[in-house]
Amino acid sequence: MKKTLGTLAGAALIALSGAAFADESTDIGKKIYDRAFGRGCGTCHDISSNPQLTANIKAGTLTRAAFEDTLKNGRGGMPKAIDEIMKNAAVTKAGYGEDQAVDALWKYISSK
Ligand code: HEC
Repeated sequence: MKKTLGTLAGAALIALSGAAFADESTDIGKKIYDRAFGRGCGTCHDISSNPQLTANIKAGTLTRAAFEDTLKNGRGGMPKAIDEIMKNAAVTKAGYGEDQAVDALWKYISSK
């Protein structure tokens, strides 16, 4: 009986740490979104005439690959953003590489 309880507690702990990890990366994504270029991505993207990132992701018109490509290369009125993302304090503190940082940002924007 004791052993069963211990196993259950262990499983619950693993599940909890998984959830905490997911939250941490979404949180880092939010910090990038709010702080990139000093005023955040929303300075431009929360204005209706610019692409609506969350809506486009949900509609399937903005893919993960196009998202990354736009961040790394810029496009039209969209400045190249990867350097801003990589120098974000939350990203350097977590020791994230480019893929992890772009994933965190994607995850946050998808969940908005
Ligand atoms: C100075 C204003 C500005 C800022 C700041 C900005 N963007 Fe943009 N972004 C734009 C404009 C304008 C476009 C449309 C570019 C085009 O298609 O010519 C765009 C396009 C995009 C696209 C392509 C959207 C689509 O549906 O094809 C993505 C992805 C994107 N931006 C992400 C971001 C992220 C993430 C940030 C913050 C790190 C950010 N942008 C900050 C202006 C901005």
